[in-house]
Amino acid sequence: MTKFSEIKGFAFDLDGVITDTAKFHTQAWHALADQVNVIWTPELQESLKGIDRMGSLEMILKAGNKQDDYTHDEKVALASWKNNHYVELISGLTPDDILPGMADFIKELNDKGYRASVASASKNAPFILDKLGLTDSFVGIVDPATLHAGKPDPEIFVRAAEILNLLPEQVIGLEDSAAGIASINGAGEVSLGIGDTTVLAAANLNFASTAEVTLANIAAKLD
Ligand code: BG6
Ligand code: MG
Repeated sequence: MTKFSEIKGFAFDLDGVITDTAKFHTQAWHALADQVNVIWTPELQESLKGIDRMGSLEMILKAGNKQDDYTHDEKVALASWKNNHYVELISGLTPDDILPGMADFIKELNDKGYRASVASASKNAPFILDKLGLTDSFVGIVDPATLHAGKPDPEIFVRAAEILNLLPEQVIGLEDSAAGIASINGAGEVSLGIGDTTVLAAANLNFASTAEVTLANIAAKLD
């Protein structure tokens, strides 16, 4: 595997990695599932992580075999209902909502000259980074509206390395979702999974929580 000394940059997922907005996505999608009479399960919840807005809606409808019950316009309206609910839930975010250890880690990267970008499927990412006071910590954010395919396709993490002006093998991608780890691996970057090791078994490096993510701990696992 890549040696730590070859790493020059980091591509961050946002929801569930930098801040705990994954729980708000879950809350809003669960409310939508109730509205369309689809049974919410822990498996459905986990499978939605990292998946873009319309893709998530399709997965929920499919779980209840209702994918053909709505027109395209009705689906757009449902997705927008969920997003309005979600935006209400995240409207009060502050820098205190950055996950444990992540503010220090991002600062450590900035101080030591590593470059960092954001590879989030969320169209709300610029708004959230602003609320967290982190916009200036990143070289750039991939605009998910410009992608041909979302996670697990590698495109978003390929683009995150391009923004950093680095080769994929010089970049570590951080993710809390199985779809995101597949995207990082497909892009040829080093994948760092945060969370359940069973769900994130395909990651090159695993950390149980964000609090453990430091350059020293990453170096210890890579060398
Ligand atoms: C991902 C989340 O980061 O963004 C998904 O893991 C979410 O749960 C996706 O559906 C899209 O987010 P948004 O904010 O554009 O609806
Ligand atoms: Mg995530």
